[in-house]
Amino acid sequence: MGSSASVPAMPWSPDGWQRRVAEQQPDWPDEAALTQVVKALGRRPPLVFSGETRKLREQLAAVARGEAFLLQAGDCVESFDSFSTESIQAKLRVILQMAVVLTYSGGIPVVKVGRIAGQLAKPRSSPTETVDGTTLPSFRGHMVNDFAFEAEARRADPQRLLSAYDHAAGTLNLLRALTKGGYAGMSQVHAWNQAFVASSAQGERYEEIAAGIDRALAFMRACGVDLEAGGRLSQVDLFTSHEALLLHYEQALCHGEQGAHYGGSAHMLWIGERTRGPAGAHVDFLSGLANPIGVKLGPGASPEDALELCRRLDPEREPGRLTLISRMGADAVQARLPPLLRAVRDAGHPVVWACDPMHGNTYTSESGHKTRDFDAILREVSGFFAAHGEVGTWPGGLHVELTGEDVTECIGGEAAISEQQLQARYETMCDPRLNGRQSLDLAFRSAELLAERRS
Ligand code: PEP
Ligand code: CO
Repeated sequence: MGSSASVPAMPWSPDGWQRRVAEQQPDWPDEAALTQVVKALGRRPPLVFSGETRKLREQLAAVARGEAFLLQAGDCVESFDSFSTESIQAKLRVILQMAVVLTYSGGIPVVKVGRIAGQLAKPRSSPTETVDGTTLPSFRGHMVNDFAFEAEARRADPQRLLSAYDHAAGTLNLLRALTKGGYAGMSQVHAWNQAFVASSAQGERYEEIAAGIDRALAFMRACGVDLEAGGRLSQVDLFTSHEALLLHYEQALCHGEQGAHYGGSAHMLWIGERTRGPAGAHVDFLSGLANPIGVKLGPGASPEDALELCRRLDPEREPGRLTLISRMGADAVQARLPPLLRAVRDAGHPVVWACDPMHGNTYTSESGHKTRDFDAILREVSGFFAAHGEVGTWPGGLHVELTGEDVTECIGGEAAISEQQLQARYETMCDPRLNGRQSLDLAFRSAELLAERRS
């Protein structure tokens, strides 16, 4: 993380980050090829539009006021290899199901943001990986290199930035069609319940809610309420987000409009735990964008760290601007979070607080799989709610890694996946994700906490 003393204060510019230390950037072997790609990307249209981004900021402002709840969810890292209608649709279905559960049982509007359409680059704890005496660069996501443990595959290839743009554009195109074309409408709530989920206790509980929604809609129709007006029940807003890690890509897609700069790669961009140094390149770049910005805060974050990030990223104290995503771990959250909540509240920053119950609870099983225990995930979520209860702040949202597929990556949950069963369908290229049933289960437990808090 760079030191602020070495960088004189200058007005912000989209390339100003290049004068600072940028952590977690790949070693691009061919500078000229990178420059070519960045130029080509800069000529492409933005993937999202500023009006949409402003709409998300308004919705997040409602979360900051305690009037709504944020659900930010999707892959740890998307894959070029599993780029299909089925996988995108399956992810969307789980997010919509979770949102229905939270809205219906928690009794509050849910702002839906996918870790999707651009979540393609990863920070790594080590720049290299050694297997059987061979050392190669680490896999950094399909935006950079390939997963196979071979020298050629692990070489950082800037052409992949263009492929990432295409992947994100194709994903977003399908998401727009599905969310605006009726598939995500309230008449479809039953259709989202996939077979392997529907047969579980959560699936059955979900069906009860879906039936309740049917009855409520029939009742309102019978009363003469025009439910179709303005697409109120047939259309859904699903916003996109990813970790803004590769700054060449983010800079190329950023554009000026009416005196402001917008990141064009996604509606919401976040800064990861490893790149949040207040004097570093990532904080500098994102401080100048008008998009809603997120920052991860791990157990090592002090109240002063949080305040410094608030000063840098939310100097005007605007609700909806900054989301602080706590990822403390189940054992640390109740002790570590309250001092941060108090400090940020007392300094007058109207931030959204979200809970990422995934990244502080990762460990390696005896079989060598990176995994997470569903019980620890639940404990972190309830610890998060308890911390907010203690301080009197609003537990604004959840940030989770999930997939629509029937994978076995996190242990526990109602299906009681054991460490021995992890290898059955362990498909992630990075962190372990909740499967459809575990995601729904998490939504039910969180909705109970929300309902409790609201009463
Ligand atoms: C992630 O969200 O996948 C991630 C790497 O998180 P963090 O920065 O919190 O470790
Ligand atoms: Co992850």
